[in-house]
Amino acid sequence: MKAVDLGRVSEIERESFKAPWSKQMIKELCGLENAVCLVLDVDDVVQGYVSARIESDEIPILHVVNLAVAPALRRQGYGKMLLAGILKQGRDAGCEWSYLEVHTTNPAAIRLYQKAGFKIFRKRSHYYEAGSDAYEMGAAIEEALKSLGR
Ligand SMILES: CC(C)(COP(=O)(O)OP(=O)(O)OC[C@H]1O[C@@H](n2cnc3c(N)ncnc32)[C@H](O)[C@@H]1OP(=O)(O)O)[C@@H](O)C(=O)NCCC(=O)NCCS
Repeated sequence: MKAVDLGRVSEIERESFKAPWSKQMIKELCGLENAVCLVLDVDDVVQGYVSARIESDEIPILHVVNLAVAPALRRQGYGKMLLAGILKQGRDAGCEWSYLEVHTTNPAAIRLYQKAGFKIFRKRSHYYEAGSDAYEMGAAIEEALKSLGR
């Protein structure tokens, strides 16, 4: 993701989430040394993005933080493409596992992650600022890439 992409990425955030991240929040996340941020370009227009952090305790693990596709381009495989892209970056950085949080009331995203082989590990009550709940989901990256056909 380049600085020039930030405006369009925050527009997609606003179109996608009730509590969207601001441009500054996205900029700060993507500026972190351990962050990976990718955009989806369709005909030279940014139409989606995904961000993650490589968290290292004893072993590195890929934490997918944000993923969104512009509403007009959904259900065309771009979500899967972005997810595969970030998983490959994680794998190349030495991660074997990935995890993420998703609203329990977001069936589109849950289905996408399940298609990629992610499993629900636990429910985290009041995880989000507005008090809503999240599922924590995780997958082995190599298996997930196979499920996504990559
Ligand atoms: C979740 C999201 C990224 C999916 O992007 P997408 O480009 O539409 O996803 P894909 O076309 O790659 O779909 C992959 C699979 O996800 C599932 N899926 C996607 N949208 C779905 C929907 N509205 N209802 C049910 N399943 C859905 C399907 O299983 C789909 O496979 P199929 O089309 O072969 O049936 C998109 O809906 C989005 O940006 N939502 C708003 C932001 C968001 O919720 N992000 C996730 C945060 S954790």
